[in-house]
Amino acid sequence: MSTLSEKLQTPVEDTARRARPPAPVLSVRDVRISDRAAGREIVHGVSFDLTPGRTVGIVGESGSGKTLTCRAALGILPAHFEVTGGSIELDGRDITGFSPAEWTSLRGSTISAVFQDPASYLNPSIRVGAQVAEVIRVKQKAGRRAARRRAVELLRAVHLRDPELVCGQYPYELSGGMLQRVLIAAAIAAGPRVLIADEATTALDVTVQAEILDLLADLRERTGLALVVVSHDLAVVAQLCDEVLVLRQGEVVEQGPTQEVLHHPRHEYTRLLIAEHEQYGLDRFLAPEEDA
Ligand SMILES: Nc1ncnc2c1ncn2[C@@H]1O[C@H](COP(=O)(O)OP(=O)(O)O)[C@@H](O)[C@H]1O
Ligand SMILES: [Mg+2]
Repeated sequence: MSTLSEKLQTPVEDTARRARPPAPVLSVRDVRISDRAAGREIVHGVSFDLTPGRTVGIVGESGSGKTLTCRAALGILPAHFEVTGGSIELDGRDITGFSPAEWTSLRGSTISAVFQDPASYLNPSIRVGAQVAEVIRVKQKAGRRAARRRAVELLRAVHLRDPELVCGQYPYELSGGMLQRVLIAAAIAAGPRVLIADEATTALDVTVQAEILDLLADLRERTGLALVVVSHDLAVVAQLCDEVLVLRQGEVVEQGPTQEVLHHPRHEYTRLLIAEHEQYGLDRFLAPEEDA
């Protein structure tokens, strides 16, 4: 038996390196999604593994199938769409067999999401604190007062200044950035293991966008949350993601560690996306490349 002092001398990195890699909390295997009404396949095989505390980015222009991929993982595909190939595992369980009741209990508590346009997800005539508290009451089976207290804590956790005041405000009284923080608070209220941010910062101005991305990184570090970050903006992905998938017309044209893909893009389409972004200062987010 080693003494405590000996144990303390073992570098943490060493222990981590020897440990087995954690099991993926979300595992997407060659997923294909089809539009039954149109009789055509829209997403032609997407694969990635997401372990706790990691972030996968999905980038590609509008209409490339990013949102459909996310919706498949959330069990909320539009009416005539279905997964027609591959598999999705959430916490080691194949989602194919989930009943609507199982989905209801998993959404929020295992996998959760925030989208563009936060205002549309809030009731304009109910104070935001009450709306966040409602999520807590339903998902955590908490009583009214406990839910209310927890709502204030969550609004503080998403770095809203004066959360007590915000609780009593209506959505129209808050800025877009504040509303997105409220939505993130609601999305993490039940302690999900995966959070999908689908164009969550697209509608926000650049400064606020950067603040929200920092917030997501902070939540990931503090809670081991795994993130799927979807954006048509490479700079967003560069800032946050360990791995990136480049999607074009439902096809993954390139996939790999973010820095590698951005420094050494292999596909012409990725190069095009990078070229488009260079004028907006993508370099700011790229780590300087180490000399070989
Ligand atoms: N609700 C829907 N009804 C009909 N077609 C849809 C719907 N949602 C998505 N699609 C089709 O699937 C394609 C991919 O959509 P989506 O995943 O939303 O793209 P992205 O998020 O990358 O912009 C779109 O080009 C569109 O043709
Ligand atoms: Mg989309």
